[in-house]
Amino acid sequence: MNWEMNPGRRKFLQSLGCCVTIELIPNINFAYQPKVKQLAAAPAEVPLVLEFGPATEVWAYNGQVPGPLLRYQQGDTLRIELENLLEEPTTIHWHGLRVPVTMDGVPVVSQPAVPPGEKFRYEFVLEDAGTFWYHPHVSSSKQVGKGLRGVLIVDEKVPPEVNRDVLWVLDDWRLNQEAQIVPFSGNRHDASHNGRMGNVVTVNGNIGEEFTVYPGERMRLRLVNVSNARTFSLQFKPIIPWLIALDGHPVTPRKIDDEQVVLGAGQRADLIVDIPESPSESLPVIDHSFGSEFAYELMHLVFDSTQTYSSSVSAPAKLPANPVPAPNLHQAIKHKMVFEGGAMGGLSGAILNGTYLNMRELVERDKFWALNGMVPDDVLTDPPILTLKRGQSYIFELINRTAFEHPIHLHGHSVFVISANELPVEFPMIRDTILIAPNEKQEIAFVADNPGIWMFHCHVLEHQETGMTSMIAVI
Ligand code: C2O
Ligand code: CU
Repeated sequence: MNWEMNPGRRKFLQSLGCCVTIELIPNINFAYQPKVKQLAAAPAEVPLVLEFGPATEVWAYNGQVPGPLLRYQQGDTLRIELENLLEEPTTIHWHGLRVPVTMDGVPVVSQPAVPPGEKFRYEFVLEDAGTFWYHPHVSSSKQVGKGLRGVLIVDEKVPPEVNRDVLWVLDDWRLNQEAQIVPFSGNRHDASHNGRMGNVVTVNGNIGEEFTVYPGERMRLRLVNVSNARTFSLQFKPIIPWLIALDGHPVTPRKIDDEQVVLGAGQRADLIVDIPESPSESLPVIDHSFGSEFAYELMHLVFDSTQTYSSSVSAPAKLPANPVPAPNLHQAIKHKMVFEGGAMGGLSGAILNGTYLNMRELVERDKFWALNGMVPDDVLTDPPILTLKRGQSYIFELINRTAFEHPIHLHGHSVFVISANELPVEFPMIRDTILIAPNEKQEIAFVADNPGIWMFHCHVLEHQETGMTSMIAVI
């Protein structure tokens, strides 16, 4: 049966020349397992499209997509054993957590990838509170794209007062008519354009329709974009949420009025959402991933008046800062990071392994992207492109000379975003993944305080695997 043809409340969305994008939504009651000690990566079947079609074969942690929600308190020690029940090596990378490099899950530089049938024990102290996530760092486009990804919440010692703490894991899949994942074939068009865009969006692992809210309640809504490539741009109107954290780190709470909540691949946002006291029939949450003309309804907020709250009018308090060292901007050493390449990027060539190759020669090697005129050969064994001095402050000027946006992720550190297009940022933020638009320039500053060799890459996983990645050493 062709599940796409099913009647139902699914909406269709043209996605930039590709297939039809079907937007689908969950009824979220996220299973939280307090005592997860083991994550087994294995093939599984999950009901991504629910009653609209057959179960989807995925790769999953403990049989669940997204993986089990891991939850700790700030200062706790995480102890998780990964068991690899796949037919290929894997690892876990703890995205956004400032961990020792041996726990970072990057093959070769952190640990040998865990072979099929074997186990690896991760153990580290959770220094920062916030919303984080985990995923493999081996064949990322395929392993993450087939379903290996989950969320890790680290609670503040005193969490803010809300009626509910809610998690929406936003994901994007490319499914065929049988609701099966389209094979990962190293699609050159995806890799040289905006990555593998899906045709199905899920929230918390399935295509629900509605999310129940209670009149007057104050929710903390944690949004996590675990998709391979898609940027979500959410609009909650007529509700005006407060933004309280980005990538796990507190911001001064501010109302998101006409702005959209933008999440590049890998990014997170924590909101405070005040539900009105007088119910309307339902309220839409709209995603503008591909601009307003392709906007679609990601979620319906549906009122349940069996439980009511008197609405909060006060601004939420700022969350306590995480212990991220503040860079010294006067003594910071500056480095330019120029991203080039991709379709319509006008890159004529770049250096690979000491040899200049023209664009055609790069493409023959499945390399589409360059950083500072260089393309990695094998990023795991190439020498680092930069060596930073431990304890020193640095400013990276990220310059996007491509026709696409890129969520740039640095491992092992959280960075202060200080300027965009030569202007100081209006709202200071600390992030681990920085979304840079075409022709944009952003400056980030940080103290290189975590010794090791760290990955620095685009989180569009198809870009990461075709040149947009490199290593930075801190010694
Ligand atoms: Cu979320 Cu290098 O990764
Ligand atoms: Cu990219």
